[in-house]
Amino acid sequence: MKTFGTYGPVNPEENYVVSRAVELADFINRVKQGRYIVIFAPRQTGKTTFFQWALEALTVDTAETYFPIELNFEVYENYSAPDFYNSLYRRIGREIARVFQKRGIAPSEALRQLLENTKLTDHVAMMEFFEQLGELLGDEKLILIIDEFDGIPRDAVSGFLRSLRNIYVHGSMRKCPYSLGVVGVKSIAQLNLDRSISPFNIQDEFTLPNFTLEQVRALLAQYTDEVGQAFAPEVVESIHRQTAGQPFLVNRFAQILTEEMDIPKKRTDYNRTLPKGTRRNS
Ligand SMILES: Nc1ncnc2c1ncn2[C@@H]1O[C@H](COP(=O)(O)OP(=O)(O)OP(=O)(O)O)[C@@H](O)[C@H]1O
Ligand SMILES: [Mg+2]
Repeated sequence: MKTFGTYGPVNPEENYVVSRAVELADFINRVKQGRYIVIFAPRQTGKTTFFQWALEALTVDTAETYFPIELNFEVYENYSAPDFYNSLYRRIGREIARVFQKRGIAPSEALRQLLENTKLTDHVAMMEFFEQLGELLGDEKLILIIDEFDGIPRDAVSGFLRSLRNIYVHGSMRKCPYSLGVVGVKSIAQLNLDRSISPFNIQDEFTLPNFTLEQVRALLAQYTDEVGQAFAPEVVESIHRQTAGQPFLVNRFAQILTEEMDIPKKRTDYNRTLPKGTRRNS
């Protein structure tokens, strides 16, 4: 049986999910156009879930055309810029190896050499590394997604973004990364407090909205379909209203109602049993 997921990213094999099909199609379309995209949204709004699904879709639909790599900057907060670049390059190398492994083929000798012999020390070295990597990948387009971007060390932000901006502005359809997704909680303007002009003003902003009433209804209906227990329509509306459709809160409400409150399975009038303070007229 599936569950309402409240611990990190959710997936349709184990959890009831909102498919976000429209937003996913929009995002994938922008990736295919080679855009550099930023997704900034508060905690627990489904950012990681969303881009993981997008990467999966790109891998499945268009294998061999796109080369998707996922990084996470959460751990770098207290790193110096040189240590950050040194680790970054090793992680890029591991991700590339992982993609090849998944495809069941070995990387070319030239690519192996590049990964073995590179030492990234700063943003210029990174730019040159990407240039060489792009040449070696040939027709395959590197898609780089960076989750928890806010963790980037303070003294590395500006150079990092300037290099990517340079690649975007001067790169052709063969630029590497071909498409970039930056995912975080703070906006780039907030990260780059000491600068009046963001070096990343090429960004394509993407908003990940809270769930609509319709989406909350569809999410809860998946439980009903599986278990046979319905939610009274006013309960669905009440959950949507009181959470403002915030993805985590919607799931947490549903979890409390379906797993923690021992409500008999045939009962649909949840209102009187909602926790105090969340009742409709309280
Ligand atoms: N598509 C979805 N369908 C159903 N629930 C979702 C969906 N996306 C997110 N959620 C809910 O939001 C919670 C957080 O999801 P996720 O970890 O993807 O968000 P996040 O924005 O990356 O969070 P954080 O800021 O903590 O990294 C999930 O545990 C789940 O309760
Ligand atoms: Mg996340």
